[in-house]
Amino acid sequence: MSSGADIYHEMIVDYSRNPLNYGEIENHDVTFHDSNPLCGDSIDIDMKIDDNKVADIKFHGKGCAICMACTSVLTEITKGKSLDDVRKIEKNDILGELGLEHLQAVRIKCALLSLKVLKSALYTYLGSHLENSEGIDTLKTEAENLY
Ligand code: FES
Repeated sequence: MSSGADIYHEMIVDYSRNPLNYGEIENHDVTFHDSNPLCGDSIDIDMKIDDNKVADIKFHGKGCAICMACTSVLTEITKGKSLDDVRKIEKNDILGELGLEHLQAVRIKCALLSLKVLKSALYTYLGSHLENSEGIDTLKTEAENLY
């Protein structure tokens, strides 16, 4: 019989081989790229925004199994959400789905690269659609307090 840890391990391997939402959105409303300089892995996230909701989201790039699994889960959680709800997504929403709450510090960057890219894409989009500078300051503070 499989233990909980085995099931999570199988999920991570499966997502890394068959990532969800992998690809590009040609007519995206926002895209963002970032990488993990320690290992060279890199992720791009494209989003189509419609009526303040994430109508579509896709990612491409390369990463270790944990990075690819977390990006799959994150894009799945994000799809269809309002931009306000995307702002509220936290690291434990991803880590909890894959049983990674107690991940070692060195692997946390693998798990959270996609969250960093998603939030950067969101703030880029919101920043370019804001009408006052007060809103930009709020976004900057949020971005600085991500982790
Ligand atoms: Fe590079 Fe995990 S080893 S993101």
